[in-house]
Amino acid sequence: GLAQILVLAGGYLLGSIPFGLILTRLGGFGDIRKIGSGNIGATNVLRTGNKKLALATLLLDGGKGAVAVLAGRALTPILLPQGTDFAIADLGVLAGTAAIIGHLFPVWLKFKGGKGVATGLGTSLAINWPVGIAACLTWLVAAFLFRYSSLSALLAFALSPLYAYFLGDWPQVLFAALAAVLVWIRHHENIRRLLRGEEPKIGRKKQA
Ligand code: G3P
Repeated sequence: GLAQILVLAGGYLLGSIPFGLILTRLGGFGDIRKIGSGNIGATNVLRTGNKKLALATLLLDGGKGAVAVLAGRALTPILLPQGTDFAIADLGVLAGTAAIIGHLFPVWLKFKGGKGVATGLGTSLAINWPVGIAACLTWLVAAFLFRYSSLSALLAFALSPLYAYFLGDWPQVLFAALAAVLVWIRHHENIRRLLRGEEPKIGRKKQA
């Protein structure tokens, strides 16, 4: 219905704000898409050498996903006063999904956006915080063990549907599975580099 369309549009617009691109430009590092992997995410912002900008990108990209979910839930009594119409997922899950899609395919960047890791984790934390914590811990443990940001993300998102199955409900499993598919698709270049042993480890500046 109209409520779902409004929430999807709002989530998309919020998710499409490219904080990494904006912050690196404001920080005087030029266009992040010409640095390192060319991605607009926190991992690549770290390749400028500025840790504060990378952390800010992580928190803002994660925050926009979380805000989308919380806004979707807060608006539910206004948009769906009768409390019905929860066909597939609640408005929070819908808004969060739209935010991830906005981050991946922002209209402002000719639909060439980020890889959805920070935004996906922020969204997951807001949808069901134990599931989000489990995903964040998976990322941290994998990053500690292997030192690859991309591999950590691939593992964290691949396991998230399982976490949602045990700690959440079916719409959340569906959300986690969709997020995993999107994150894996956007990491195809990283996967190729990982398999060739050419993926740079976290914090390294090299690579085309
Ligand atoms: O946050 C995305 C990360 O998993 C990979 O980023 O820049 O190494 O391709 P990047």
